[in-house]
Amino acid sequence: MLRKPVVLITGASGEIGHGLITSLAGRGDRRIVTLDVKALEPELARLVDQEIIGSILDTALLERFIAEYEVDLIFHLAALLSTRSEFTPIAAHQVNVEGTLHLLEFAQRQGESHGRPVVFLYPSSIAAYGLPNLEAKDRAGKVGEDEFNAPSTMYGCNKLYCEHLGRYYARHYKRLAPEILAGKVDFRAIRFPGLISAVTVPSGGTSDYAPEMIHAAAQGKPYACFARPDTRIPFMAMPDGVTALLALAAAPHGRLSRTVYNISAFNPSANEIESIVRLAFPGAAISYQIDARRQGILDSWPADVDDSAARHDWGFAPEYDLQRAFDGYLIPTIRQRYR
Ligand code: SER
Repeated sequence: MLRKPVVLITGASGEIGHGLITSLAGRGDRRIVTLDVKALEPELARLVDQEIIGSILDTALLERFIAEYEVDLIFHLAALLSTRSEFTPIAAHQVNVEGTLHLLEFAQRQGESHGRPVVFLYPSSIAAYGLPNLEAKDRAGKVGEDEFNAPSTMYGCNKLYCEHLGRYYARHYKRLAPEILAGKVDFRAIRFPGLISAVTVPSGGTSDYAPEMIHAAAQGKPYACFARPDTRIPFMAMPDGVTALLALAAAPHGRLSRTVYNISAFNPSANEIESIVRLAFPGAAISYQIDARRQGILDSWPADVDDSAARHDWGFAPEYDLQRAFDGYLIPTIRQRYR
């Protein structure tokens, strides 16, 4: 069968996939193939050339894929998030690590077979950090990519390790083989802050209190926030997250000084989010019911990150600060959604 150049999106039915498929389809410059255990919503399915329902752990499925398609760009979004992963650490390791290894190997094969590097976009996370205590978190300020790399969650360990696996494939793969095999996978990772979408709600994450609070208020539902009011971690509006993935994917390889980049937009405390939600939805019934164990995870994540490398190397510049995220994106879009 004729091999067709495509972009492959795994975990496509998740939150990032939603915005990414919409953007890629809008540009119309690539054929889109998606892979997810869950079906896409019908309005997204219409935008893709082929939707494959299956698991990234199914190597036979990936083998068939290699024969049929010429993939030169991958967005590997499939993962179990941080809260879910603490309940099922072995499943998390299988999906988050073994799944990523399968995809990297798939990308390597693709690159070897069509002779061009496969650009491999990997969403990592602020969960890759592990601050030892709140004093250290307060003192640390904007954390650089190579600091505090001692995550205390299964998900964080998975993400950090896969960042290293990606770098290994990109720079050192089979380094003792007679021929040079590294460089077939052009691995590029973004350490995302908590992402807030107006059109989807996350599931199984630990930064979920922010989107949950906003979506509950918009629907007139009460919300008990599981994080302390003073909890501070970085967040970003989903459109900026999607734009960042596309910008890093398009960046000339020679401009990239690293394989993993922080990005940030705003970092309100939980009660600052509450205030802004109350202004938008004056009837909002928000209370606090702190989950000490999930709080422990949040306290181990940085209050802010240093994203100067992303700004310098590939021109990262978020469109939405906190106010604009609410006024220009979240509130109008969410109001529309729950009308
Ligand atoms: N938002 C994710 C989570 O909370 C972190 O990447 O698990």
